[in-house]
Amino acid sequence: MSSQSSTVTAAHFDYIARRTRADDPFLVELKAAASARGIPAIWIAPEQAAFLRILLAASKVREVVEVGTLAGYSAIQMARALTGGGRVRTIDLEPAHVQFAREWIAKSDVAERITVIEGRARDVLATFASNSADAAFLDADKSNYPLYLEESLRIVKPGGLVLVDNAFAFGQVLEAHPRDREAPAIQRFNELMARETRLESVIVPLGDGLWVAVKR
Ligand SMILES: C[S@@+](CC[C@H](N)C(=O)[O-])C[C@H]1O[C@@H](n2cnc3c(N)ncnc32)[C@H](O)[C@@H]1O
Repeated sequence: MSSQSSTVTAAHFDYIARRTRADDPFLVELKAAASARGIPAIWIAPEQAAFLRILLAASKVREVVEVGTLAGYSAIQMARALTGGGRVRTIDLEPAHVQFAREWIAKSDVAERITVIEGRARDVLATFASNSADAAFLDADKSNYPLYLEESLRIVKPGGLVLVDNAFAFGQVLEAHPRDREAPAIQRFNELMARETRLESVIVPLGDGLWVAVKR
């Protein structure tokens, strides 16, 4: 058996995407309404959503903390995978995003499983009890990822999941001088994650790259 990886190209990602369950009509409508309201289409990819659902379901997760609600797309996707009685606490500082997400989550099939909290993530996370979640999903301002990681390590129980989006820095992770303003913060964060001994972690190359980690 070879220890070499296959060369993965854009065509392979397309191949994966075409074999992933598409968004249901409700999520298609949510995305169209969000775009019509001027909310940027920066939600996770459906392949990432499928992977998150599988991880959460396989780990029998009940309590999820999300940093970065946007339109509520990932919160709804994750809530659908929770074990009975589970809940997603999702945080966003942008009032227009919070209002839209609350509106659409209320119309969703998982309304009772999601609480949208308006505020700066650093302030809101500080109010959450230690060991009160089975998983954390970080998908907001990249320069604060190290702080959100520390808070996740406090809030998530041992054996719980820490998931972080955009490990590929919007496709610029290998660039010495990335154009994106947040890309250097991600490059630094990736080095931090690679050295973090409190986690068992790996980057899964779906969407813009997803860190998947288990708290030891
Ligand atoms: C990439 S979007 C989240 C996408 C969402 N997770 C999804 O896939 O459907 C990032 C969100 O983080 C929010 N955000 C940015 N900085 C934040 C902060 N300091 N505290 C809380 N939310 C923040 C933005 O308002 C935006 O809605």
